[in-house]
Amino acid sequence: MPAVASPRSAALDVLGVPGEINLDYAATAPCARAAADAVTELLPWYASVHRGAGALSRRCTLAYERARQTIGDFFGASADDHVVFTRNTTDALNLLARSLPVGTTVVTFAGEHHANLLPWPRGSVRLPVPANPAGAVRALAAALTELRRDSNPALPVLVAVTGASNVTGELWPVAELARVAHRHGARIVLDAAQLAPHAPVDKHALDVDYLAVSGHKLYAPFGAGVLVGRADWLDAAPPYLAGGGATSHVGPATHDVTWATGPARHEGGTPNLLGAVALAAVCAALTDADRVALAAREEALLARLRAGLAALPHVVELRTFGPDAPRVGIVSFVVAGQDSATVAARLAAEHHIGVRDGLFCAHPLARRLLDEAATRTGRKDLPPTALRASIGLGSTAAQVDRLLTALAGLA
Ligand SMILES: Cc1ncc(COP(=O)(O)O)c(C=O)c1O
Repeated sequence: MPAVASPRSAALDVLGVPGEINLDYAATAPCARAAADAVTELLPWYASVHRGAGALSRRCTLAYERARQTIGDFFGASADDHVVFTRNTTDALNLLARSLPVGTTVVTFAGEHHANLLPWPRGSVRLPVPANPAGAVRALAAALTELRRDSNPALPVLVAVTGASNVTGELWPVAELARVAHRHGARIVLDAAQLAPHAPVDKHALDVDYLAVSGHKLYAPFGAGVLVGRADWLDAAPPYLAGGGATSHVGPATHDVTWATGPARHEGGTPNLLGAVALAAVCAALTDADRVALAAREEALLARLRAGLAALPHVVELRTFGPDAPRVGIVSFVVAGQDSATVAARLAAEHHIGVRDGLFCAHPLARRLLDEAATRTGRKDLPPTALRASIGLGSTAAQVDRLLTALAGLA
């Protein structure tokens, strides 16, 4: 197989520990040099944000607001969108769930990560996992037609979909789903947690109303994510975190409070400055990078990994849409006759390879795909949970080959 050359700049080099092979980017990607450098540069200036008049404080406040701007630009936010800092995608989607107008129906698919299944209110509609992307578009159109016919058309509807599956890496037809949603007067939120680390995500180009991401999956440290999207529901909602920074006036009476509008309304408490700045630094580095070349490199690595897995007779890949569906660098699979947790532990202990095992916080999808794999192969010895290998900026062909060799040794 051809060697995979790296087209990335030094800013997108990732930190790691020599000898340890991280093939679990989908859970948490390693920290990029750009993020580490931005944090190191700011640390001497470390002071309060939005709360102090000193030079250090003013610099920190500026850095925080610049980070918001950079991240908003990176994701194609329009001038009247809010970019609200959150802890991660789960937090961002919970914020949106708490901001829904009364009577909103949320429509989603059973293939989502729990973060995009569980926050939504009772009465939400969960569509079955479709057989292919076109099936997803058709199912959404049918569901929205029915919903509009059977319920008050004045009530809001929100469609919630992922850009790329955290189980299979397969891409969902976001732009088409957005078109269908808007045709039916619904809004759409994109869970971009797994798509953003692998491909440009532009809110405007995809025509989504909101998007949510996690910094720690996008080569920044833990604890910073964003919800980007339309201002009206967010400005009308009760503050997500009531407290300092979220108010414009607090009077002497218990309920004499005027809440701020804008992102501050939902960012009560002292913010995660370093997380925001680190995430913005990665966004800036990715903006400067050749994303086409990065994607081509990842695709070559993924092809190497999937071809290698397919060549192992005791390994079965999980998939929703079929073997040739476009996908990002995530593959879930099982080793026939072997417990997935034990395989993951052996890969770690004997080969210094880190992968994920379990049902990947997407239990309905993972269980369904495990059943499908058993039916497809006719095997009765597939385990009840799976393994997942995921790659990104720091991954190499040698690492992929090490995993394949280790798995071959498990036969
Ligand atoms: C598709 C998807 N959405 C949401 C999440 C939740 O992300 P976080 O744990 O950073 O909140 C994940 C995490 O794996 C994910 O893969």
